[in-house]
Amino acid sequence: MTMMESDQLLRVEDLRVEYLTEAGRVRVVDDVSFNLRRGEILGLAGESGSGKTTIALAILRLLKPPAVITGGSVVFEGRDLLSLGEVELRRLRGRKIALVTQSAMNALNPVLSIGEQLADAIREHERVGRRSALERARRLLDLVDIDPDRVRSYPHELSGGMRQRVVIAMAMALSPSLVLMDEPTTALDVAVQREILARIARLRQERDFSILFISHDLSILLELCTRIGVLYAGRLVEAAPARRLLGSPQHPYTGGLIRCFPHADEAPGPRPRLVGIPGAPPDPRDPPPGCRFHPRCGQRLPACQRSAPALTTVATDHEVACHLTRS
Ligand SMILES: Nc1ncnc2c1ncn2[C@@H]1O[C@H](COP(=O)(O)OP(=O)(O)OP(=O)(O)O)[C@@H](O)[C@H]1O
Ligand SMILES: [Mg+2]
Repeated sequence: MTMMESDQLLRVEDLRVEYLTEAGRVRVVDDVSFNLRRGEILGLAGESGSGKTTIALAILRLLKPPAVITGGSVVFEGRDLLSLGEVELRRLRGRKIALVTQSAMNALNPVLSIGEQLADAIREHERVGRRSALERARRLLDLVDIDPDRVRSYPHELSGGMRQRVVIAMAMALSPSLVLMDEPTTALDVAVQREILARIARLRQERDFSILFISHDLSILLELCTRIGVLYAGRLVEAAPARRLLGSPQHPYTGGLIRCFPHADEAPGPRPRLVGIPGAPPDPRDPPPGCRFHPRCGQRLPACQRSAPALTTVATDHEVACHLTRS
């Protein structure tokens, strides 16, 4: 299937983010490009420090100094957010693009009932009366499987999982076309995490919006996402539909990540030994030359130390940045 222009909701192109430190500029997002289509759940995978949160915050221009966006574009519904005025940007945040982060407690105000907070979120962007905003708050809670009467509850009266559902409901309040979810379930225990992921998948089916879902856990992304991009040390190393990524990973790093976890559909019985990836990601202040993964790569070629491989299309909808797939 070829991608039509109109399918495209977000296009991140050659995004570059640097932290200005005393030691100089540290590039933590290095020319990252990807598309997000209408209606899809795009996953971004990567180890801690690979630049996931930085990308999400850069999209909404919420990065604070010493972080600086030093290149690229973020085109959302045809407009480059990186050159948008502050007023327009503020109008867009929450209403068109919402952000859900890991820590629900930080996103909620402890002294306001959740109904008041949901109603405030609505009234910040829309001219509606208190009553109808509260009525909408009740429906939003229902949407995430919370008893609507809980509008009167305060954050501390809810479990961690319920609070995270409230945060998701808040993100949905203004029917955004894109929700950025940065590790939204990572702080929760596995059972609660699964419930919320299932709820997110159903919400996506019921309502017309797209999700950029960020996680260090590739196994979660493989279950939830339509397509997945894999980050390594600030660079996108592979992007493909979830099934294809699982069945035919092309980058040695992606292959290593997939071998790191047991597959859900694996037959019960003795499992093959989990094979990790030896070594650790590089220090962003001093990245290795060439392909940043080469010091850990079991298949490296001489070229890998000399030049960084460009992201190249290897099959329909499948891009890889690896010298192996080009030789
Ligand atoms: N204020 C800062 N100054 C300098 N470097 C920073 C700053 N904030 C983040 N970084 C660096 O930017 C890089 C990317 O960080 P980021 O938080 O985007 O990673 P992440 O993929 O979201 O990691 P995690 O899985 O731990 O959330 C890291 O190397 C981090 O050390
Ligand atoms: Mg992060």
